[in-house]
Order: sequence, then structure tokens, then C-alpha cells
Amino acid sequence: MAATMKTSIQAEIETHYDRAQDLKAFDDTKTGVKGLVDAGIAIVPKIFIQPPDNFNKTTNPTNTQFSFPIIDLTGIDKDPVRRREVVDEVCEASETWGFFQVVNHGIPVSVLEEMKEGVHRFYEQDSEVKKQWYTRDFTKAVVYHTNFDLFTAPAANWRDTFNCLMAPKPPNPEELPPPCRDILMEYSKQVMKLGCCLFELLSEALGLSPNHLNDMDCNEGLAVLGHYYPACPQPELTVGQTKHSDSDFLTVLLQDQIGGLQVLHQNHWVDVPPTPGAFVVNIGDLLQLITNDKFRSVEHRVLANQVGPRVSVACFFHTGSLPSTKIYGPIKELLSEENPPKYRETTVRDYVAYFRAKGLDGNSALTHFKL
Ligand code: OGA
Ligand code: NI
Repeated sequence: MAATMKTSIQAEIETHYDRAQDLKAFDDTKTGVKGLVDAGIAIVPKIFIQPPDNFNKTTNPTNTQFSFPIIDLTGIDKDPVRRREVVDEVCEASETWGFFQVVNHGIPVSVLEEMKEGVHRFYEQDSEVKKQWYTRDFTKAVVYHTNFDLFTAPAANWRDTFNCLMAPKPPNPEELPPPCRDILMEYSKQVMKLGCCLFELLSEALGLSPNHLNDMDCNEGLAVLGHYYPACPQPELTVGQTKHSDSDFLTVLLQDQIGGLQVLHQNHWVDVPPTPGAFVVNIGDLLQLITNDKFRSVEHRVLANQVGPRVSVACFFHTGSLPSTKIYGPIKELLSEENPPKYRETTVRDYVAYFRAKGLDGNSALTHFKL
């Protein structure tokens, strides 16, 4: 009896470390995961250790049986036959994968390279200077921190992020961090153009007029996130980003050559192959909601890696924390007696607020809006 008691007390001490205190101490450094790595940490601290099912890599034995969709946008504005083919490819990929890559999208490779460089420069600037951007207040023009859900998620991710809301009201360039100021302005302009083009293709894929989704203001807001995934000493214990689906209408993502992004497809984690010059495009929760499940917002994750830092730039089409009164529900033209609405209406702000408060806990935010 006494022996059993001793064992359970020991177990208690080991499992109930003061997580809240560790999280606060980590947040107070204002230097994120990069700060830990720069300090030469050789083991992954406990706050980052994922419950086993969140990082199980062995669920991926047949990774190569799938080929990730890649869509060539050449000629879509000149050749109506080609455009129809592309619309069909976009439709198929959005229904089955929720993801595809695009090439020949019209944005120069030099802009893509400079944007990734800009993210490196932001993180590599002097930490005392960088700290001035550190905040959890999403009403700020620039929000730099580590793990937006640090205090609510079951485990922290091996990742730091900055978030700039670039549309509808572009910030004054002076409000942006100097190491990536100019490229953020240029990149956002170009991605906004590409986004409008993708929303046209998606509208046509739904059998609606090309302007339908743009007229609904799906392209109104654009948040540009610069992610930084430092090299990880024990990548089997944590993840770069817990599995999740995105809380926006559409995401346009630029990744570097390191890899680690995976998409859940037919119950397998499939690698999104780094493709030079390509963007990864994925359907967000709000587009799944307004298409009444025709297009799917699919779960994805980022593995931690011994190699790094990896950077990515995620452009989220949504208005984030801005006040919004516009109501979004399943598009009326898509509904019928056989296809009644599956979701209740919401504003973008309410959706995003719910997503952020919930954090990346492995569950979809969409369920909360199901009728
Ligand atoms: C995201 C995301 C993937 C990546 O920001 O929502 O899934 O490769 N990013 O950084
Ligand atoms: Ni995502």
C-alpha cells in the first residue's frame, strides 16, 4: 500500500510540472523558439511535447501512391478551352484534396525569393529590435509571437510567426518591420491579384458567374503570415504545426525547399512536395461553409525537422479581427431540396474569434457552425 502510494506520488510530480509557469517564462523571453535554439538547447522542453497521436509519422506508409495535384495556369485568360480545363482541375482538386499547387501563375520568381529572404531577415534581426513587435494583440498592424494559441493548445509548436493584415486597409509602410517592409507591400499586391483570379476559377467551378466569390468579398481581407520553423534537436517529440484546417476562405502558401507540410488525404498523411516557383493553394473553412461542403477545407500539419530553419509565407484571405457585419452562410444558388444548408450563418470575425480561442487542439472549428 505504502509502496503504491509512493509510486503514484512520484508519477504525480512527474506529470504535473508547472506548465503554466513554463509557458509564461517562455512567452516572456519574447524571442520564441528561435531564441531557444540560439541559446543552444539540445532537448525539446516539455511544453512542446505532443501527445503521441498528434505526430504519429507511421500513418504514412503509402505516401507515394498519391500524386499531389499541380495546376498550370498558362493561357487561362486567352484560351477559353484551356480555361475550362483548368476550372475542371480546380474543381476536382477542391472537392477531393482541398489542396493543389499552381505554377505559371504570373508572379515573378524573384518576388517569391525576396519574400522568403524577407522572412529570414525579420527573424535574424537583433532580438532586442525584434522584441518591439512581440504581441498577442491582433488589432495591431504587425503581430509577432510564437504560437498564437500558446496558453490554450495541448502542446506548443516548434514555430514562430509574424502576421500582417495587408487588406482591406494596407498599413502605412512605416508600420511594417524594415527588414521585410518593401517586399511585404509588393508581395501582397501580387498575391491579391492571384487570389482574385483563383476566386474566379473557383466561382466557375461552382457553376456560378466568375465574379461571384469576389462580389461576396471573399477577397476583401488579406493577412500575410511569415512562419519560421527552427531546426529541431528532437523532431520526433514535437511538430512545426499541429494538424488543423485554415479558418479563412482561401490560403495561398509559399514554402521553401525543406519540406514538412503534409495533407490528410484518404486517411494518409501525404507530403506537399516543395516545387520551385509554385504556390500551394488550399480551401479554408469559410469556403467549405459557403459551398455547403462541396469544397473541402482539409486538415494539414507541418512536421518538425532536424534541418532548418524552414520558412513559409501563408496568405490568408480573411479580414481577421476587423469588425465585420457581413453575414456568410451556404450560397443560396447551390442549395436545393436535396442539398439543404448544413451550416448556420456567421460573420468572418466571429468565425476567426472562435478558431483563435479554440486553438490548434486537433479538432475542426467548422463543427461548431454545423446545423
Ligand atoms: C498555416 C499552415 C503551413 C506551412 O499557416 O495555416 O498550414 O507550411 N502553414 O507553414
Ligand atoms: Ni494551415
